[in-house]
Amino acid sequence: MKKLVFVFLWLFTAVGVMAPAAAQSLPVYLNDKMPVEQRVEDALSRMTLEEKIAMVHAQSKFSSPGVPRLGIPDNWMTDGPHGIRAEVLWDEWNTAGQTNDACIAFPALTALAATWNEDMAALYGTAIGEEARYRNKNVLLGPGVNIYRTPLNGRNFEYMGEDPFLASRMVVPYVKGVQENGVAACVKHYALNNQEVARHTVDGVVDDRTLYEIYLPAFKAAVVEGGAWAIMGAYNRYKGQWACQNEYLLEDILRDEWGFDGVVVSDWGGVNDTRQAVFNGLDMEFGTWTDGLSEGVSNAYDNYFLAKPFLAMIEGGDKAAAAELDKKVRNILRLAFRTTMDRSRPFGSFATDEHAAVGRKIAQEGIVLLQNKGGVLPVDLGSAKKIAVVGENAIKVMTVGGGSSSLKVKYEVSPLEGIRARVGDAAEVVYARGYVGEDTGGQDGLSDGQDIGDSRTPEELIAEACRVAADADWVIFVGGLNKNPGQDCEGGDRADMGLPYGQDELIAALAKTNKNLAVVIISGNAVEMPWVKEVPAIVQGWFLGTEAGNALASVLVGDVNPSGKLPFTFPVKLTDVGAHSVGEYPGGDTVTYNEGIFVGYRWADKQKVKPLFGFGHGLSYTTFEYGKVTADAKTVAKDGAIKVRVSVRNTGAREGSEVVQLYVRDVKSSVERPVKELKGFKKVKLAPDEERVVEFVVDGSMLSFFDAAAHEWVAEPGAFEAIVGASSTDIKGRVAFNLL
Ligand code: BGC
Repeated sequence: MKKLVFVFLWLFTAVGVMAPAAAQSLPVYLNDKMPVEQRVEDALSRMTLEEKIAMVHAQSKFSSPGVPRLGIPDNWMTDGPHGIRAEVLWDEWNTAGQTNDACIAFPALTALAATWNEDMAALYGTAIGEEARYRNKNVLLGPGVNIYRTPLNGRNFEYMGEDPFLASRMVVPYVKGVQENGVAACVKHYALNNQEVARHTVDGVVDDRTLYEIYLPAFKAAVVEGGAWAIMGAYNRYKGQWACQNEYLLEDILRDEWGFDGVVVSDWGGVNDTRQAVFNGLDMEFGTWTDGLSEGVSNAYDNYFLAKPFLAMIEGGDKAAAAELDKKVRNILRLAFRTTMDRSRPFGSFATDEHAAVGRKIAQEGIVLLQNKGGVLPVDLGSAKKIAVVGENAIKVMTVGGGSSSLKVKYEVSPLEGIRARVGDAAEVVYARGYVGEDTGGQDGLSDGQDIGDSRTPEELIAEACRVAADADWVIFVGGLNKNPGQDCEGGDRADMGLPYGQDELIAALAKTNKNLAVVIISGNAVEMPWVKEVPAIVQGWFLGTEAGNALASVLVGDVNPSGKLPFTFPVKLTDVGAHSVGEYPGGDTVTYNEGIFVGYRWADKQKVKPLFGFGHGLSYTTFEYGKVTADAKTVAKDGAIKVRVSVRNTGAREGSEVVQLYVRDVKSSVERPVKELKGFKKVKLAPDEERVVEFVVDGSMLSFFDAAAHEWVAEPGAFEAIVGASSTDIKGRVAFNLL
């Protein structure tokens, strides 16, 4: 035996000795057996100044050069975050008209967040990463984790809700899943891009505690736990400096505090000053418009802030600028070794049935049953012989539009198609338009393929809808917002929180006509619901992507038992939101976040304002009973942890999943703290009558606040409570403990 081991060892050593000898002819940077940092230094040492400068700015709308002479490939970026954007022309936003770039659209990130299931985020990341990889993109411009501060923000649908803990838990698996494919996730928009109005100029005035407790945690989790290889600076300013060239955000926090070693990419056109961009931590400039040049002029890219002006600084003898250039190039080379030059990365796959199935699964888990009076849903196909579907969003394409997340898809199943396909011969499905929005026709040269103009008056449309509804056993209204400018769309915010296009009148009329009514809201934002008391069933249907209609239908008829929970509060009215009550919105040159840490349910709790539907709310077709909340100790040391347990039982007749939520409350504190803060959640699937004990570990770090003066997280000894709820407004029990 000993002999055998010896022979093996000898063989290994011999191979070990021979391997470097054989590899010696390879330059270090091409030798993937060498440590990455050595490869980076070796590649850097071989580059000319011009090659370095070329690397730090775009060469086309979505690409930047590698080093062709050294065989280092270009970087190719793609939006994100819900699918892989169609190929565009070299220097245009317009689609290139290729025939092989129609992707699978995954549900919007709000829908993903609404699953409250980290496994769904992992599936999402892996699948979209595979799509990006197949299309030979090495940077995916997503996910987005800006916090939901106001329901008016036109881009909320691209983010993960109002709570830093929920967004943090959901972003990490997404990032890891993408990067398994050798594709960098580029987390955006760092930071404080919480509104679209004046996004290119507004200066967010936020105190440090609020910044660290609310607006940074999801970015930090993406970087520190997710290991994100890229981050995108925001358009707006912070402390007077644009976020893409912001010393505090990029140098002090991102690099120094979080140890980020990836690339900082500017948002498209987010750079405004060469000196700051050189010295404050930006690595790659994209999308900048240049003075005096117009669309399509080929040398526009040479005039970028990090192009000729940067080169001139260095050629003028600015040694510090030259050192900054090397830092940037190191980061970009590291990106190359992690992505394009990783020979072991998988090949990816694109627009597959598997990806569509992933999208459908996430959609089904993200749909939220907001209200179900009298258990009217699911629609009973045994008794319903005629189903009326009403509303523009039952037929409207939702994957085209909305700004940079707009997609060219392989297919998109509309709610009406999904319902028709599922209902089949079991009932007759009739359709009435009900209301008419604006028909934009498409975006960036990509048509939505629809002509849904309708010149009838609102009165005529409502009359027709009510006629159809009166004659049906069931009415499913599908409305909400859409991806048109002024709705859920980049580049602007909503004017108010109400439903557009006269939908409130229509819904109220339908509610009077037929009591078997379900209202499905397609949106990435909260909307006012003046008719909430008249409508028995309300479903939050988000933007669900390719499989939207199938996913919705499966929930409406009960093939799938809904288990989504709201990732943000639905207030009754705008003034119930901190940002609109004491905060500033949209501000002017600056926007001051006067509401501080009191965002979403933190504000509702503090002010004791009852939301329309609270954060974390979502019903099921079954019912759950919670047992007593217990803890395994009465005290916890600062570096210790206690276990909080609660039993949950399915008391209904069908299998279902419940998201059990753990909030923590500091009973007495030297600073004002939220009434409660989410610190844990678990989704459990239970068969009828099944009971499970859900356990949460609460440690000292979950009890702390950010002490701005000391610039550190502080947990003050004293009384705390662990609070368990089915939502932030449906508390099932609590247990007290002391922090020593
Ligand atoms: C958006 C980014 C996007 C970029 C490229 C910008 O306008 O803010 O989120 O990734 O364009 O399309």
